[in-house]
Amino acid sequence: MSASAADVSNGKRIAERWCAACHVVAPQQTRASADVPTFAAIAAKYATSRDLGVFLTDPHPRMPDMALSQPEIADLVAYIRSLGTQ
Ligand code: HEC
Repeated sequence: MSASAADVSNGKRIAERWCAACHVVAPQQTRASADVPTFAAIAAKYATSRDLGVFLTDPHPRMPDMALSQPEIADLVAYIRSLGTQ
């Protein structure tokens, strides 16, 4: 088990279910909203996992309030971060 208990594959499942309507959440996804940043771009922008977790705790107005739990946020952050290393 690594330092964090986050589950990358669960993060991917959450992303595909809740985020893919607007964001490109995986490299092989071809359709999403044109003006929404891809998860790969988000991974590059947020330097630390903590910043991304803070953002997802309080999503901004253009995103629906998804009321993610802390474990779900940790899994999503782990998944998004994993995209940044590809
Ligand atoms: C209804 C459409 C929609 C959904 C669903 C959505 N987002 Fe977003 N998201 C946006 C838009 C639009 C922006 C860009 C907003 C802006 O630039 O003001 C954004 C921006 C972001 C950002 C910040 C990017 C940056 O440059 O700072 C993150 C992180 C993010 N979304 C994560 C997620 C996650 C994780 C999910 C799923 C749990 C999700 N979003 C679901 C529309 C959506």
